[in-house]
Amino acid sequence: MQNRSNLIRLAVAKGRVAKEAVKMLGRFGIEFTEDVSTTRKLIIPDKTGNYEIVLVKPSDAPTYVEEGVCDCGIVGRDIIVENDSDVFVLFSLDIGKCALCVAGKEGTDFRNIPGLKVASKFVNSARNFLSSQGIEADIIKLNGSVELAPILGMSDVIVDIVETGTTLKENGLVVLEKINDISSVFIVNKAALKTKYKDIKILMDILRGNENENN
Ligand code: PRP
Repeated sequence: MQNRSNLIRLAVAKGRVAKEAVKMLGRFGIEFTEDVSTTRKLIIPDKTGNYEIVLVKPSDAPTYVEEGVCDCGIVGRDIIVENDSDVFVLFSLDIGKCALCVAGKEGTDFRNIPGLKVASKFVNSARNFLSSQGIEADIIKLNGSVELAPILGMSDVIVDIVETGTTLKENGLVVLEKINDISSVFIVNKAALKTKYKDIKILMDILRGNENENN
């Protein structure tokens, strides 16, 4: 695919983050030609032709940016920590707010379960947390719907993202411990930051209007 020299291609995690990111860009006059919540298109230009949003699976967003096919991206910090990606993480945004938590059935004393089993999409983050707490555990990697693991007895607990808490509630689970707060971050390809600095800076200035100073 051709990449016009001043076109900025932005990898954005599909779903809630994409919806919030488009809303935020819209407030600064960057409007897209399709509704990201309903379209099945994966590459969506803005009305000026200066930007393209590329809708990606959250865990793949850093790869598109690292490989340089997208100049920058908006993705949860959890994904960056998990992937250890070779991209610049420039600043946090006030969108995609959630928390990484240990969750399970109410009353599960996960610190005192010999041979603790933990299911997670975020195995590195789970391992780092558990080892920092001196907790030995078997970690089971899943790619989604992790709440199923403790319900079906495949694990004692999960380490997962909690945003509204609805998924846990509707599946009879609770937060047992919050590990840390998370929000989306703005990431940039290392070469693109030099070669397209002027255009990326414009986008950065727009997004910084929404920068979360707590992160
Ligand atoms: C995430 C997360 C939880 C859910 C939490 O999953 O893994 O399952 O959202 O959100 P809530 O607290 O607002 O209910 P996602 O929707 O990305 O789907 P997945 O399970 O297929 O990864």
